[in-house]
Amino acid sequence: MKALVLSGGAGSRLRPITHTSAKQLIPVANKPILFHGLESIRDAGIREVGIVVGHTAPEVQDAVGDGTAFGLSVTYIPQEAPLGLAHAVLISREFLGDEPFVMYLGDNVLLEGVARFVERFERHRPTAQIFLARVPEPERFGVAVLEGDRVVRLVEKPAEHISDLALVGVYLFDAAVHEAVRAIRPSWRDELEITDAIQHLIDAGLTVRAEMVEGWWKDTGRPEDLLEANRMMLSTLASRVDGEVDGESRLVGRVVVERGAKVIRSSIRGPAIVGPDSVVEGSMIGPHTSIYHGCRVQGSEIRDSIVMEDCVIEGVHGLSGTILGRAVHVRRSTTPPVGHHLVVGDQSHIELL
Ligand code: TTP
Repeated sequence: MKALVLSGGAGSRLRPITHTSAKQLIPVANKPILFHGLESIRDAGIREVGIVVGHTAPEVQDAVGDGTAFGLSVTYIPQEAPLGLAHAVLISREFLGDEPFVMYLGDNVLLEGVARFVERFERHRPTAQIFLARVPEPERFGVAVLEGDRVVRLVEKPAEHISDLALVGVYLFDAAVHEAVRAIRPSWRDELEITDAIQHLIDAGLTVRAEMVEGWWKDTGRPEDLLEANRMMLSTLASRVDGEVDGESRLVGRVVVERGAKVIRSSIRGPAIVGPDSVVEGSMIGPHTSIYHGCRVQGSEIRDSIVMEDCVIEGVHGLSGTILGRAVHVRRSTTPPVGHHLVVGDQSHIELL
């Protein structure tokens, strides 16, 4: 069994962060989303992984390397443009050969990992195995219509309500899928849809099994999804203090303070994590907050937020539901004229009181 991890795509819903970096490398609980996926693939006993990459290929390759650090052997498969999930399978034919494989969307996070998914596929050996979750907004997902436990129809982003069972971003296939991805035509949005490829398998009379996903799952396409994934992943961390916490500080609940981090005269309410070499001084952090490495937070209050590396936050109260990209500087204005002074990149979202 091999794995195909999709780490290309446009990431348009996560701009401006994705103007300058790959969405799969945004940290959730201080670990890039993609790393959560690679680790769960390794934990399922798979070693050979193909990673489909797009315009952010250099950054992904820099972060993952040859996979040795994860106990994996990684092959990169360049995709000229985000032409669809089935297109990613099409261009990976040579890497995949005739082996069955798990296809994993690199921006998805699953609390339970993928080992059970692989085990289910191996036990039943269908042509394709999909996993489903009930969602409140099915129009944002590929959805499945079932008759008993048989999948009869799949539709990508349905315009009208036909099912609230969304496809989770982990699929298992045998070699029959290669004929299917060659047979289908691009959809209205000009993508080769994996739902059309699976429908092709169903129409050919092949077995497509569906099962409900058991644990929590998130497709981190939008900012609010990232924050929710962050909350969920933070709540699984075990408390640990490898950095310095002074006598005037208070840590409550699940809190991780990484090596080289300093917490001075501050209160941290878990779940929360302070990354390596970050300094938190005279501040209130958490709950549900991750501060990545090399940050400085002074005289500020932050909760329910993701702060990426090398940010500086000074004298700012009430930051909440916030995602800060790399090396962002936010500070309270102290000089007249009093007002908001903003230097902000394209397609940023800002809400001011
Ligand atoms: P999506 O979230 O469906 O697409 P996207 O990344 O282009 O995002 P947006 O809609 O905000 O522009 O992609 C799911 C995952 O699959 C994600 O990790 C990107 C990856 N992907 C590819 O590698 N190649 C592709 O052709 C597509 C469409 C997605």
